Amino acid sequence: MAFTIRINGAQHSVDVDGDTPLLWVLRDVLGMTGTKFGCGMALCGACTVQIDGAATRSCITSVESIGKSAITTIEAIGKTPAGAKIQKAWLDHEVVQCGYCQSGQIMSASALLASNPHPTDSDIDNAMSGNICRCGTYVRIREAIKLAAGPINGKAGDR
Ligand code: FES
Ligand code: FES
Repeated sequence: MAFTIRINGAQHSVDVDGDTPLLWVLRDVLGMTGTKFGCGMALCGACTVQIDGAATRSCITSVESIGKSAITTIEAIGKTPAGAKIQKAWLDHEVVQCGYCQSGQIMSASALLASNPHPTDSDIDNAMSGNICRCGTYVRIREAIKLAAGPINGKAGDR
């Protein structure tokens, strides 16, 4: 069956079964391999994309459930204000180790920053808890999110 889905501002027509996970469509049908397959069961966060700005596990999101919603992937997150800040902070803090989890981490972090410009430590922990990093980059991730958020009222806050 044919579905038309909007990804990174462009319409894509795909001919797949309706229950096909979005992750499969991105990677195998459209060749957008920045979004990673980890567990396939919503347990690791490697496959995180944004749907209407919300961090979403693409491995358990069927293509038929998307409708007219706007999908953003790692390939375009740097064009959003929050995504650009997060990517710069990731580089400044040298967050990445092996890198496998990192597109999902960046998608969750940028969704957090877009909805909550000055997250507390617990806000960060809550937003990022579903993104697993086998290399243990969690401390650098938290610091990079704080760097991207910037100081509150020009001062470093207790976040
Ligand atoms: S691949 Fe989707 S959460 Fe692990
Ligand atoms: S950087 Fe290696 S799994 Fe996160």
